[in-house]
Amino acid sequence: MKPVKVGICGLGTVGSGSFNILRNNAEEITRRVGRSIEIEQVGARRDNASVDTSGVNITRDIFDVANNPEIDIVIELIGGTTVAKDLVLTAIENGKHVVTANKALIAEYGNEIFEKAQAKGVMVAFEAAVAGGMPIIKTVREGLSANRIDWLAGIINGTGNFIMTEMSEKGRAFDDVLAEAQALGYAEADPTFDVEGIDAAHKLTILASIAFGIPLQFERTYTEGISQITAQDVSFASELGYYIKHLGIARRTQKGIELRVHPTLISKKQLLANVNGVMNAVMVQGDAVGPTLTYGAGAGALPTGSSVVADVIDVARTLTADPDNRVPHLAFQPNALSDLKVLPISEVECGYFLNMTIQDRAGVLANITQLLSENGISIESVIQRERDDIELVSLVVMTHTVKESNMNAAIAAIEALPDVAGKVQRIRVESLA
Ligand code: HSE
Repeated sequence: MKPVKVGICGLGTVGSGSFNILRNNAEEITRRVGRSIEIEQVGARRDNASVDTSGVNITRDIFDVANNPEIDIVIELIGGTTVAKDLVLTAIENGKHVVTANKALIAEYGNEIFEKAQAKGVMVAFEAAVAGGMPIIKTVREGLSANRIDWLAGIINGTGNFIMTEMSEKGRAFDDVLAEAQALGYAEADPTFDVEGIDAAHKLTILASIAFGIPLQFERTYTEGISQITAQDVSFASELGYYIKHLGIARRTQKGIELRVHPTLISKKQLLANVNGVMNAVMVQGDAVGPTLTYGAGAGALPTGSSVVADVIDVARTLTADPDNRVPHLAFQPNALSDLKVLPISEVECGYFLNMTIQDRAGVLANITQLLSENGISIESVIQRERDDIELVSLVVMTHTVKESNMNAAIAAIEALPDVAGKVQRIRVESLA
């Protein structure tokens, strides 16, 4: 059979990893596909020393790749949402299939891109966009397709998890760990995307769509980063039997879909709590299968390249299939997507860890518990600790499940008490049950 010809746009971390896998595993890939996959052209602004491109047609203009009539599959690995979007839409317009690792592009413009791809009868594959080398898209979209998915929760940003792990295990400084993650090629071009949860929100948006069959709704995903978490929060949480992880959570409830990224306390006994370093993991709860856990490297050249090349293989295998018989982009048939409401964060219900500094005086604790009680909040446990400053103590309160709007009202009232110093730190707690 004729070889399948691919064009790679972008020769950075993921581009070089994908190039090297296609080259090094060419024989194995041919055995899997039944035909060979050839790199016809590479579009990159500069060379990459980790890649031997001798004998490959190189262009500095990535649009040459999207317009190259020889190419069947365009692999978009340039990142960003401006030029990358034009590139992908040009490739689709030219009848080419697309493989991309670009989570921002899919989360923010996927609805438009898939509609155009559907109309042109081409595939857009994006396994590498979520959790690097870990095949979570395929797991949810195909492996769990018999299930009604109840919820999923995951560590889906390797850089953030690397930072939290190094800080809590080795007491390293935040900036120092972030610099290492950047040097290793894990972090986004703008690392605030990692630290403030935007990258995880992009990935969660995609996962929620394929889990529940809803359009991509990045703008409705609640996002909170890890930059406000202190060593003291980590230590109190640990004392109570929890680790703090930066989780993406999507849950189907009676009232709608919860879609949220935030630091979360989870019991040390949970497998997910013990996912450390740059590793990612996602728990998915299906009504038939029960809980599942997928684990793997969430970033890096070869792990992410593994997902890119797996998508190329998938597309190559189905090139001759009727477009209507292929796996739909968002796992459900495009005309069967649901308009389930995404809930605002004020409607979300969970437990809370509250960490505050208060005056060490009679009646202060009673006032705080009174305000919690007035807002329908039941207390699970309390820790009070002396500080170096003898007039102030640290108070940590763990609560049972309550609606976020009630917690907002209680926190506002507590912060207004004259005996409470500064802000109340609030971290959500999940049982993952
Ligand atoms: N910056 C991302 C991470 C890369 O750290 O997980 C993979 O998407």
